[in-house]
Amino acid sequence: MEFRDAIRHRRMVRKFEQRPIRDDVLSRVLEVARHAPSGGFSQGFDFIVLAKPEELEWFYRTTDDPTDPEPFPGREPNFAPACIVLPFANKRLYLDRYAQPDKLQFGMDKEENWPVPFWTVDTSMAIMLILLAAVNEGLGAWYFGITRGEHDVVNELGVPPSCTMLGVIALGYPSSEDKPRGSVFARRRRPFEEMFHLGRW
Ligand SMILES: Cc1cc2nc3c(=O)[nH]c(=O)nc-3n(C[C@H](O)[C@H](O)[C@H](O)COP(=O)(O)O)c2cc1C
Repeated sequence: MEFRDAIRHRRMVRKFEQRPIRDDVLSRVLEVARHAPSGGFSQGFDFIVLAKPEELEWFYRTTDDPTDPEPFPGREPNFAPACIVLPFANKRLYLDRYAQPDKLQFGMDKEENWPVPFWTVDTSMAIMLILLAAVNEGLGAWYFGITRGEHDVVNELGVPPSCTMLGVIALGYPSSEDKPRGSVFARRRRPFEEMFHLGRW
C-alpha cells in the first residue's frame, strides 16, 4: 500500500470480524514499533499483547465502565477485536539512558528536568506506527482510553512502576458493519492554513 493511502485510509475501526489475526500478520504490525524514533534512542515503549479468549474476556470485565455510553470492545461480542495491545511509556529507560556519559551533561537523568516527557512522546509515535501498519495489512485498529480498571490491569499484568499505560489499541479485521462514528462527524478537519503558521503564529 502507498504511504499516503495508508494515512488516508486509517480511521478508527470499532467493529471487527470474528476471525483471528495470523501470527505472522500480527508480528508484522507490531514489529513496526521497534522502528519508532526515540529520544537518545532510549526506546522506552513496552507493549502487552492480549489475544487469548480468556485474556480478552478478563480485560473487558476489568475495564468496561457500564456507565459509559460509548461502545466498548467486548460489550458487543459479535464485533469484538481479535487482539488488544496495551502500550506503556517506560520512563526508567529514559532516566537510565540520560545517565550515560554521552547524555549526562543535559541533566536529564532526573525526571523533574524533562520539560516534555519524551517517554510519552515516543510511545505515542510507536502507537501511530502500529495504527498505520494495521491498515497496511488490511486490519483495522481502534485506539481508545479506559476510565475504569487501569489500576487492576497494571497490577495483575505485573507492569513495573516506571511504566504508564497510554490507552489501548484494539486490532482485528474490520467488520462490514463498521461505520465511522463519533467526533469525526460532529467536527470538521482543521484546514491546512489554520493549522500551519508559516513564519510565525
Ligand atoms: C488520545 C486519543 C484518545 C482517544 N480516545 C478514544 C476513546 O476513548 N474512544 C473512542 O472511541 N475513540 C477514541 N479516540 C479516537 C478518536 O475519536 C478519533 O481518532 C478521532 O475522532 C478522529 O477519527 P479517526 O481516527 O477515525 O480519523 C481517541 C484518539 C486519540 C488520539
